[in-house]
Amino acid sequence: MSILVTGGAGYIGSHTVVELIEKGYDPIIVDNLSNSKIEVLDRIATITGVKPKFYKVDVCNKDEMRKIFESESISAVIHFAGYKAVGESVAKPLMYYNNNLNSTISVLELMLEYHVDNFVFSSSATVYGDPKVLPITEESEVGGVTNPYGRTKYMIEEILKDVAKVNSNLNIAILRYFNPIGAHPSGLIGEDPNDIPNNLMPYITQVAIGKRERLGVFGSDYNTVDGTGVRDYIHVVDLARGHLAALDKLDTKCGLTIYNLGTGMGTSVLQMVNAFQTANKLKVPFVITDRRPGDIDACYADCSKANKELKWQACYSVEEACKDSWNFQSKNPNGYDY
Ligand code: NAD
Ligand code: WQD
Repeated sequence: MSILVTGGAGYIGSHTVVELIEKGYDPIIVDNLSNSKIEVLDRIATITGVKPKFYKVDVCNKDEMRKIFESESISAVIHFAGYKAVGESVAKPLMYYNNNLNSTISVLELMLEYHVDNFVFSSSATVYGDPKVLPITEESEVGGVTNPYGRTKYMIEEILKDVAKVNSNLNIAILRYFNPIGAHPSGLIGEDPNDIPNNLMPYITQVAIGKRERLGVFGSDYNTVDGTGVRDYIHVVDLARGHLAALDKLDTKCGLTIYNLGTGMGTSVLQMVNAFQTANKLKVPFVITDRRPGDIDACYADCSKANKELKWQACYSVEEACKDSWNFQSKNPNGYDY
């Protein structure tokens, strides 16, 4: 069964491709490599023994995408492709609206044209904005998003609901990821950010390897256990497996469904620094700085819907994720670039 994986060379996509291959699926990656490296394909081959089929194509380019839909027998699409940097989206909103919305519309139109019925979409906990109640359920209010990146996710969710209403054959799983961290235990694939990392874990690993002097902890006056921001960090392999569970669900012809994919557990920035230090027996120098604009106090998921309906649950601990993040960083000090 061929699964089209847009953005499959990226961080979450590559881990999902590994899980797909290991479960006997036949993933086809479409990626324009705007935020990933071709090297990842060889790494996937080393882990699984299979080099996945790959098209270097921009998903917004419908003519090129049509050729893929024409020549391949696709049973489902997992749509990871998109830009994801919050700060960059504030500076370049049109670039984000253009890429994230058009890539999704392009794929959906081709799915309708070629009668491909099953679609998994990478959404984000960012659609919940600043949650009023914790833990966050799928019924919690959405839409109070404060940046263009987050708005693309919210807008795409709305588009998907409209499309599903008039295409009863379509089965759509909207997966709202919480904060993915970690790497494949082999240390062969992992997160490889361009430039200065925006997210906490890659920043910590770059401090640990000596690329950055110290971590800035953004604010210590949040309404949390120790004043630093609390998030729900999920190991990327657990997250990847959530996509396989979603594919099984779509096979039951379930229409449109929405799932939180997290661990259900909140971890503060300082707790994360401690977990990383303990897990890896390393020191991570840090300094408390000002809050980062737009950040919220706390965000963690109620995952009982995914536990029950997808029969999926996160298994890795934060400590294991810290070990795997460091394993990838230490084995690949310059990411996929030698
Ligand atoms: P990533 O940047 O590592 O992967 C995205 C991949 O898509 C990259 O390989 C990039 O080259 C590719 N891409 C982008 N635009 C494309 C286009 N027009 N055509 C073809 N390829 C294109 O990001 P990731 O962390 O793996 O995230 C995957 C998805 O999950 C994204 O949609 C992201 O918004 C979403 N998400 C990520 C996080 C996170 O913290 N990493 C959290 C919630 C949601
Ligand atoms: C986590 C915590 C920071 C960096 C972002 C996006 C969200 C989603 C995941 C895609 C916060 C603190 C961070 C640093 C710090 N992406 N921090 N120093 O902000 O929860 O979510 O990534 O959908 O949309 O907004 O994740 O990893 O940036 O921050 O103190 O150098 O770490 O303040 O409390 P965030 P993050």
